[in-house]
Amino acid sequence: MSELNETVLVTGGAGYIGSHTCVELLQSGRKVIVLDNLSNASKASIEAVEQITQKKLPIIEGDIRDRVALDQVFSKNSISSVLHFAGLKAVGESNEFPLKYYDNNVNGTLNLIESMTAHDCKTLVFSSSATVYGIPEKMPLTEDSDVGAINPYGRTKLLVEEMLKDLYAADPEWRVSLLRYFNPVGAHASGEIGEDPNDIPNNLLPFISQVAVGRLDKLQVFGDDYDTADGTGVRDYIHVVDLARGHLAALDYLEPAPKLGIHNLGTGQGYSVLEAVNAFEQASGRSIPYEVSARRPGDAATSYADPTKAREELNWQAKYDLQKMCEDAWRWQSKHPMGYGS
Ligand code: NAD
Ligand code: UD1
Repeated sequence: MSELNETVLVTGGAGYIGSHTCVELLQSGRKVIVLDNLSNASKASIEAVEQITQKKLPIIEGDIRDRVALDQVFSKNSISSVLHFAGLKAVGESNEFPLKYYDNNVNGTLNLIESMTAHDCKTLVFSSSATVYGIPEKMPLTEDSDVGAINPYGRTKLLVEEMLKDLYAADPEWRVSLLRYFNPVGAHASGEIGEDPNDIPNNLLPFISQVAVGRLDKLQVFGDDYDTADGTGVRDYIHVVDLARGHLAALDYLEPAPKLGIHNLGTGQGYSVLEAVNAFEQASGRSIPYEVSARRPGDAATSYADPTKAREELNWQAKYDLQKMCEDAWRWQSKHPMGYGS
């Protein structure tokens, strides 16, 4: 366990994964500060984290592209490490507005690293994604599998990975963890924080949840002619609390000595769209009407992790199964049908 009096800066800490990670950090006894521009979140998540943990969670409303704001955060606080979640994540939008993605995700991260360097803070955990594997050919995906992003969002993740590898090569005092998340779903067991998409959800689980709660009529299943057991796409869904704990494991991994590590955070188990629908029906007691439509361009048939490296090196393993993911997602959705705006 790393020093408990350290202050961890969490960029994007008001968002979905960041807020769940703040709960785990606070519960581990660490001091935490959030920096978030609230472009895809609200302060309600911060208040909910405080309520769950009964601890204060200071938030600075600021942008990672604002060097002055960043420098102030580092000068005024003794930040020992940064968990960097801030970024944009919608694949469709990244095709439409690629420069917005390069600016936020690449330029923003560059700015953050420069400010960290200037303040001699050299421990960084970066939210990468299984999207860096593109359309993969061989399963399961190991950290050595070929990478090759197929949209601007994915390319921003790959570029930042490359940038951080170059940084570490040039200055091996850095401690860098690149975490490649598979498909984060679910919510905190309290049902007080969860995923709250701004518009109609792009991702499967939030879409299903909104059908279950009556906000959407029915699910479109994007293709049932894939080469999978039931013909629908297979993904490695991972409970967001398991994922959050992976970040604490990454901090512990970086603690003893400088290094750069790349790790998949997934369960290693793939589930199809129809299996996810069934699990959610069971968890919610609601039926999820669906119809099969065309494949979504850019979708792989199957994607799941080999989580061995994270187990061996981070001493981390996902604990929760698909049923628990759906139960917790449903608790959040049914308590807050309109998300934080409820
Ligand atoms: P999210 O949108 O809920 O959280 C991101 C947070 O960052 C939001 O609170 C947003 O307001 C903030 N933010 C965005 N741009 C910012 C900027 N320029 N300055 C300051 N704050 C900014 O998303 P999430 O699902 O919690 O994802 C967190 C990270 O994990 C992202 O980097 C995302 O790309 C990555 N990731 C997410 C998934 C997923 O499925 N959710 C999968 C793989 C990787
Ligand atoms: C998507 C993104 C990926 C991103 C990830 C973040 C695309 C092409 N890929 O991945 O870059 O890192 O989200 O979590 O957008 N599905 C339906 N109906 C729906 C929604 C999804 O059938 O309304 C299917 C998809 O075809 C897929 C599965 O459900 O087989 C999971 O989809 P999704 O939740 O969007 O995740 P990914 O496609 O893995």
